[in-house]
Amino acid sequence: MSIEELHLDQTLRPEKWEEYIGQKNIKENLHILLTAAKERKHPPEHILFYGPPGLGKTTLAHLIAKETGVAMKVTSGPAIEKVGDLASLLTNLSPGDILFIDEIHRLNKAIEEVLYPAMESGVLDIIIGKGPSARTIQLELPPFTLIAATTRISLLSSPLRSRFSGGVFRLEFYEIEEIGRIVKRSAGILGIDIDDGAVLEIAKRSRRTPRTANYLLKRARDYAQVKKVLLSKGVVDEALKLLQIDSIGLTSADRAILETIIDKFSGGPVGVNTIAASLGEEPSTIEEFNEPYLMQIGFIERTQRGREVTEKGYAHLGITYEPKKLF
Ligand code: ADE
Repeated sequence: MSIEELHLDQTLRPEKWEEYIGQKNIKENLHILLTAAKERKHPPEHILFYGPPGLGKTTLAHLIAKETGVAMKVTSGPAIEKVGDLASLLTNLSPGDILFIDEIHRLNKAIEEVLYPAMESGVLDIIIGKGPSARTIQLELPPFTLIAATTRISLLSSPLRSRFSGGVFRLEFYEIEEIGRIVKRSAGILGIDIDDGAVLEIAKRSRRTPRTANYLLKRARDYAQVKKVLLSKGVVDEALKLLQIDSIGLTSADRAILETIIDKFSGGPVGVNTIAASLGEEPSTIEEFNEPYLMQIGFIERTQRGREVTEKGYAHLGITYEPKKLF
């Protein structure tokens, strides 16, 4: 996430449950979990959120901290480089605090091993010394709740996954109507004058993702400001055309992925590493960012042998689909 995105995320981030739009089922489950924990005067059990970027995983963690009335320390998988980093985070928590680990799929294996007993039994096993004289000491930790987030649940080991005893929740893409409400709320906070047609157009092109919707709102606002016009549907159309975002919100990168699979690999199946190499992209960017939405709208299918563009994907690009010959 860029500095600008971070800042944007923070001003627009909902501060109360009532302001958090969508993800109804997750909110209901969290309500039960948090209320029950509060009644038992016990910290909530560990929680894992997963799903594509920008759907509100971090926001949920902040809301849980607020609801529980505790402090939350925020870190990420790649930031925890040594066992000592994790030990220092855990031993500095006050009883009941939340530790939030973003991108937990990037935590290294040695650190994961230290996290297991901390999550399960609230102890930290520390090895002192090396070789035959090495010994373990156990440190008792204050009770805490781990909340973790990942865009790549498949990269988590099953022992780690199974330790999120409070629940493992998948965030879903939002409904257009929900995104519309988010855009209206954001426009209100940012003091942007916008009509309903423009709200709907931004929502339709947001990839059903709040972060993208907020980004598009800001870019369209810039465009309207520079051109000295009111933010209407027509202005959104012009602003997004300049950003090369198409009628359904695909970026030039999304279209390049589809076109590469079609033009260079006869529509697939082709492995993600091959697609990435062909485009000079990182495979992880394609897998984490582009693919989830392309699959959601049925433009790409993931098979045993790799990715394939569907008939719908061809149609969007205006390319004639030729069914694969099986023999
Ligand atoms: N901003 C980002 N995600 C949001 C959500 N789910 N509800 C309201 N505003 C948001």
